[in-house]
Amino acid sequence: MVAALCRGERGRPAEMLRCFLAAVCAAVALLFGFDPSVPGHLLDGLSRLLAVSGLAGSKPVRLLSKAELCRYNGGADSPGLYLAVLGQVFDVKKGMRQYGPGGSYSFFAGKDASRAFVTGDFTEMGLVEDVAGLSPSEMVALHDWLSFYKKDYIFVGKLIGQFYDEHGDPTESLKEAEALVAEGQRLEAQSEAEKKQFPPCNSEWNSVSRSRVWCSKFSGGVERDWVGVPRKLYKPGSSGFRCVCVRTSGPPSSQPTSQKHSDRGDLDSPQLQDCFQREQLSRKCSRVSADIKTN
Ligand code: HEM
Repeated sequence: MVAALCRGERGRPAEMLRCFLAAVCAAVALLFGFDPSVPGHLLDGLSRLLAVSGLAGSKPVRLLSKAELCRYNGGADSPGLYLAVLGQVFDVKKGMRQYGPGGSYSFFAGKDASRAFVTGDFTEMGLVEDVAGLSPSEMVALHDWLSFYKKDYIFVGKLIGQFYDEHGDPTESLKEAEALVAEGQRLEAQSEAEKKQFPPCNSEWNSVSRSRVWCSKFSGGVERDWVGVPRKLYKPGSSGFRCVCVRTSGPPSSQPTSQKHSDRGDLDSPQLQDCFQREQLSRKCSRVSADIKTN
């Protein structure tokens, strides 16, 4: 193939250089496991050669086309077992039992099915790279899968498609996806901080007392050195509320170092409403209809 490419180009320095690059490309391609029998592979892969060799100033990273990735399904005549998440390709050969033919996750092999990692839709329609419309928290979940593959499997290269262009550069789609991940992570951190300040109440239901909520030092899975009292927490802009435990002594969380405080913890937070809609410290509330009432 290299000989054919070079035929008739002898003597012209620019073409000779191109020939030489193509020859290097072939050698590198073979080293990296590309199949040189794919027609037009070398010409098609000239830009990939530059990326792989670093001549174009890009990071030396292997770029794969979808057709190329598709062959890595772990089948008898396939060159290996790869999958991609958010355009990053991994060698998952050590997970042959799950991803190989007949495995419970074989549908992930040889493609980028990013969307299905969060939707759980493993149909042909669902197994796609398109992540449009996924929420920030779903994007965080997808990003967690990416981190999992980075940690547990071998990175192979980038897939030319929705997330990387033919030069291996991130596409607008990838930038948007990354922005959503960052937003999701910010929201998660905010909700973690809020959960620490206002841990969820314990709750139970029985036919006698109906629904009951109360606080303890581990309610809502948040370990702490205070018990607190149950209050309704309203989210700004939302009419719904959730039952949270509120610290009743010390400075408010918004002014943790304040010396001049009324020693009422977060009881005066404006997002809170008392169980009885009046100022009363109670350790238990029972819920009647949609309302929470003090025992
Ligand atoms: C969105 C839904 C789901 C996705 C995207 C998903 C994806 C995956 C993937 C990619 C693996 C292989 C991980 C590896 O490389 O080691 C895996 C393993 C596994 N998953 Fe899921 N999964 C989903 C839901 C579930 C559910 C609902 C169950 C159980 C009812 C489950 C049970 C398992 C088990 C038991 C394994 C280990 C399999 C083994 O070692 O052979 N998964 N999952």
